[in-house]
This record gives sequence, C-alpha cells and structure tokens, in this order.
Amino acid sequence: MPERVIIEGGVPLRGEVTASGAKNAALPLMAASLLLSGELILENVPGLRDVMTMRRLLEHLGVRCQGENGTISLDASSADMWDAPYDLVKTMRASVLVLGPLVARFGRARVSQPGGCAIGARPINRHIEALEAMGATVWLEHGYVVAQADRLKGAEILFEAPTVTGTENIMMAAVLADGETTMINAAMEPEIADLADALNSMGARIEGAGTGEIRVTGVTSLVPATYRVMPDRIEIGTYIAAAGITGGDVTILKCVPGHLKAVIERMEKAGIVIDKGKDWIRAAGEGRNSAVDIITDPYPGFPTDMQAQFMALMTLSDGISTVMETIFEHRFMHVPELCRMGADVTLSERRAVIRGVKGLSGAPVMATDLRASASLVLAGLGASEGVTEISRIYHLDRGYEKLDEKLASLGGRIWRTGG
Ligand code: EPU
Repeated sequence: MPERVIIEGGVPLRGEVTASGAKNAALPLMAASLLLSGELILENVPGLRDVMTMRRLLEHLGVRCQGENGTISLDASSADMWDAPYDLVKTMRASVLVLGPLVARFGRARVSQPGGCAIGARPINRHIEALEAMGATVWLEHGYVVAQADRLKGAEILFEAPTVTGTENIMMAAVLADGETTMINAAMEPEIADLADALNSMGARIEGAGTGEIRVTGVTSLVPATYRVMPDRIEIGTYIAAAGITGGDVTILKCVPGHLKAVIERMEKAGIVIDKGKDWIRAAGEGRNSAVDIITDPYPGFPTDMQAQFMALMTLSDGISTVMETIFEHRFMHVPELCRMGADVTLSERRAVIRGVKGLSGAPVMATDLRASASLVLAGLGASEGVTEISRIYHLDRGYEKLDEKLASLGGRIWRTGG
C-alpha cells in the first residue's frame, strides 16, 4: 500500500515549531557548487526529495557530495560531465539550474528541456535568450537544450517578465563571464538575494540582488565558502495558515518575518492575530476567518506558492473571496479535492471564487503537486468531522521537511500509514 497521510481534524494547533531551510534557496545554492573548483559547504539544507534529486544530478555531473542532517559539502573540483538527463529533469524542473553554471565553468551544457508540469507550461525561453545575449550558441536537439560558449560575455539583459530560476541561472552564469552583466526586470525573490550573498562570499561581485536590477562583474574564479540557507518563507506561511484554520496559537522560530510581508498582511486581514520579533512569528486564529481576496504576483506580491494554502483557509471563512492566479495557468488542481471535502469553490480560467462553508469534512483525497498537497493537509486539519486520507504524498515530501511530524508536535492528529 503506498504511503498516505491520515488526518483527524478539529484540533487547535499550539506550541512552537522551527522553520526549515528554504527549498527554493537550497536548490540554486547547490547548483552554484558547479561554479568552483573547491568545496562549498551549505548549512541548514532541508531534508527533501528535491534536495536528494539535485544531489543525484550533481553526483552524475561528477560533484563530490558529502554529509547529511542539514550540512552538506559539495566539491566540483573533478566534475567532468555536462549533461542533465531527462530522467532527473522530468522529476524536478529546478534541474535547469545547472544550465548557467555548466556553460559558465565548462563552456558547454546539455540539459533536458523541462516541458510542462501539473501547474502550467513553464517554458525556459527567457533563460535561453539571456544566455544567447551573453554570447552562447544555443540549440535544441532530441528534447535537450544544448549551449556552448568559449567564455560568456557580460551583456545587458532585459527580461520581458521576471523569472526566478531564470534570474538565478543568468546570475550564476554572469559571475564567471567576461565583463559586466546587467539584468533588468530581474526577479526580486529573497531566494535570489540569498544566492547572491552566497556567491559574493565565494568571491563573486554582485550588486542589487533582491531588486529589479542586478549588476554582476565577472571574475575568473571563485573560492571555497560555507553558507547557511535562508529559512523557508512558504513553509512558514503554511504554519501561519495552519494556526488560522485550526483556531490555534503557533510560534514559528528561526524565520525572517520581512520575507512574508504580503502573506502576513492578507492573513491579518483574514483575522489571524500575528505578532512578530526579529526571527519569530506568532500566529493565533479563531478557526473562523473573514473572506479576503488575493492576487498572486512576483515578489514582493502574494506568492503563488502560498495560493493553495490560502485558499484552504478561505474555504472556512465568513463570506465570499476570490483568488486570482497570475503566475501559473493550471495551479488550481487542489480545487476539486477541496470540494470533495465540502468546500464551495467555482473556477473560471485563472480566477477561483470561494464561498465560505460552515465546516469541512474529512475525505480521501489525492495530492497533485507540492503546494496543492499542503492545502489538503490544511483542509484536513480544519475539517471538524471525519478522517482525511491524502494519497500521492511524495509531492509533499518534495518540498516540506517532516510536515506531518512538525504538525503532530503542535498537537495535530496527523500521521503516516502504508509505505
Ligand atoms: N516563464 C516563461 N519563460 C521562461 C521562464 C518563465 O514564460 O523562460 C513563465 C513561467 O511559465 C511562469 C512565469 O514565467 O508563468 C514565472 O515563472 P518562474 O520562471 O519565475 O518560475 P520558476 O523559476 O520555474 C520558481 C520556483 C517555483 C515558484 C516560481 C514562482 C524554484 C526552484 N521554483 O519557479 O516554486 O512557484 O518560481 O515564484 O525556485 C514551488 O516551490 O512549489 C514552486 C513551484
């Protein structure tokens, strides 16, 4: 029997929980190890399936990967491969993050085209156009993107719209390029600033990361460094929602509250009482929330990665709310599953209308992608009757470190079965 998560809801969560390192910061940081001949030590690396996949990919490329339990050492001194095969890229799109570093360090890369996924088409044309602007020759063959350049040249790159991994890929490529690269309309997510801080500690010269304009002055080589991965703002937002939907009182430790401004603003508007200090957030809920609309946007807007979780919260709100998804066209796979639990949600294209209901009831449901799984967990915790049984939980394990155990430590009746 495949592994499932079982939840008996209706229990207010209480206590303290520590945020893990951020998946979407750890993955580009791991890829950055390819840029140097020497050791990159990363601390606070979350134990996730996606991290394991990136590790397998780096090992395939010849990177020596050592360590467990949060600290890993990556050494690409004898990396000798330059291809990211289909099998790995198809299970994790973030594999495309090796494209920039491979071309920058070895002058060539062959990376399987990621293709579509459950949440949308997700092309990588902006990554490719930017590499071409830096002098790379790029072509497609047999489902692979192949890029080649003797040495990349600094360029002025104007992204038609921000792309997170695109900005990261080009920032990593520009670090070893000849001359200065300016990225305009760059993505501003905190994970990008985290990557830049790590690269600068390795000897890179990057300014402006975290703003829409990033300047990188190329250097000839990087030096070994140790870097601590930033906390996971999406995991933290998920715990705030868990406190809200269960009427609990949860303090999240080791976080950066400034990364969650848009999320906190909407959660407070919904009626969750939030208190925060330098590196903690306390969220207390009534279990019943007010209807609040959201529109997902690139950072500093409301993150698409919190949309599904916020929608779960809104299913038990007083009133009618709308959710506009502007980043990924198909990111509503959680809707039919939430409806099976008694939610009232109607969908038209990129807009969902949620009519708050009196209660949700537990049901067998299926996880379809990472954040959709988290929204089902929240709905299960908020369900006042019945048992929720979530299948295909490998999606959850891709991006949440021990979510079920952490929620259980807050008093949630949640456990795993099967497997
Ligand atoms: N886009 C293009 N062309 C490109 C690149 C992007 O059309 O060359 C489009 C995408 O299809 C999408 C939009 O631009 O509609 C923004 O996509 P972006 O490139 O910013 O997304 P990403 O880099 O592939 C990262 C995160 C996602 C997160 C998005 C948006 C990582 C490893 N992944 O993806 O995380 O949803 O940014 O914030 O950082 C998740 O953690 O659940 C997750 C999906």
